[in-house]
Amino acid sequence: MACNSISPFFLIVLLFAVATPLAHGGLIGRINGLSVSGQLCCTSTGNCPGQGLVGVVVRLNCRRIAGVSTTLGQNTTDVNGSFNITVLRPQGLILGLPLIPCVVTVQLPLNATVCSALSTTNGVLVSAVRGVGTTVSGTLGRIQLATATDFSLRA
Ligand SMILES: *[C@@H]1O[C@H](CO)[C@@H](O)[C@H](O)[C@H]1NC(C)=O
Ligand SMILES: *[C@@H]1O[C@H](CO)[C@@H](O)[C@H](O)[C@H]1NC(C)=O
Ligand SMILES: *[C@@H]1O[C@H](CO)[C@@H](O)[C@H](O)[C@H]1NC(C)=O
Ligand SMILES: *[C@@H]1O[C@H](CO)[C@@H](O)[C@H](O)[C@H]1NC(C)=O
Repeated sequence: MACNSISPFFLIVLLFAVATPLAHGGLIGRINGLSVSGQLCCTSTGNCPGQGLVGVVVRLNCRRIAGVSTTLGQNTTDVNGSFNITVLRPQGLILGLPLIPCVVTVQLPLNATVCSALSTTNGVLVSAVRGVGTTVSGTLGRIQLATATDFSLRA
């Protein structure tokens, strides 16, 4: 039996040990929220470059400590196809770690006037989320910044 298979239970304990001081005023200060941004374009995968997808609903779905995936926030894309979903004090989510257990999703199909290339496709565009550091925003305090990495179609 291999000795290098670490038990999931141990990982969870380790995660708490590392994350608790980080999330509660330790080395990097209290983190009040998570802000995920990105850009969507009218292509077969939703990735840019291309014409921005305007006014499209984008959701942030996260797997909480308890294991269930829920939509923590949503927003709509701006005139350039850019979005920014900011969630304050997301419950059941440990902030400040490199791994962010969230995905950004867009429900298809889209209205043909918004993007004909995605108007006949069923499914969901899904992108992983990668942390890019933290920032202090005047009213919000310290928040973790993240971006959507790459969208792909999930049936
Ligand atoms: C959209 O992109 C243009 C050109 O890069 C920029 O000048 C403009 O400020 C952007 N609009 C928004 C709402 O970000
Ligand atoms: C997203 O919103 C947060 C909070 O308002 C802000 O700090 C951050 O700079 C924004 N990100 C982008 C890429 O606009
Ligand atoms: C939605 O996006 C706008 C523009 O980036 C931003 O000001 C607003 O805070 C965002 N709302 C949420 C709930 O993330
Ligand atoms: C698509 O968008 C057009 C223009 O905004 C609107 O008139 C039409 O009702 C929309 N169609 C659907 C199916 O939502």
